[in-house]
Amino acid sequence: MRIVVLVSGTGSNLQAVIDAVKAGDLDVDIAAVGADREGTYGVERSAAAGIPTFVVNFKAYPDRADWNAALTRAVAAYKPDVVVSSGFMRIVSPEFIDAFHGKYLNTHPALLPAFPGAHGVRDAMAYGVKVTGCTVHWADAGVDTGPIIAQEAVAIEDTDTEETLHERIKVVERRLLVSTLAALAADPAYSAAPHPN
Ligand code: GRF
Repeated sequence: MRIVVLVSGTGSNLQAVIDAVKAGDLDVDIAAVGADREGTYGVERSAAAGIPTFVVNFKAYPDRADWNAALTRAVAAYKPDVVVSSGFMRIVSPEFIDAFHGKYLNTHPALLPAFPGAHGVRDAMAYGVKVTGCTVHWADAGVDTGPIIAQEAVAIEDTDTEETLHERIKVVERRLLVSTLAALAADPAYSAAPHPN
């Protein structure tokens, strides 16, 4: 199974995928890693691992539609079976989802449909829930919406800060992302088919 991974930040979840592939625990080909901005550590660590990288800089395009079209072309060039959003902080267009037959996987640091958006960890703490977690799902063109594949709960401790909680969630998130990719690689029909857009 060929994957393209999209990142906006440090790419520590991506690193877990790279490590699992290197260890022989995950039978996927990371065809490329792409980012929406220059200078991400996610791209840097991919290049260091010998993975092809690309940047489709959101700020370099006159509008979102042009950027989406450029991103779609850049990803399609690597002919992925699955595209993975791993801390990719941009919403893609329905055309992007369609171009990859809905096979656009996202991870989110909360138990969706609760606390979608860029601040899932902060929002869960602010609400005062005692349990949050992470979700791996097929993403559609909404904000953290689409069919859920896997979830796991993480308890919020009284002493938690956003950082300590997010770090504990990410430990679980990495494991869920790797196990979901392994299940998909073993059986492409694993999990409900994504909703067509
Ligand atoms: C993850 O928790 C992801 O779900 C969220 O941002 C974090 C990305 O972390 N949207 P990293 O870039 O993989 O370290």
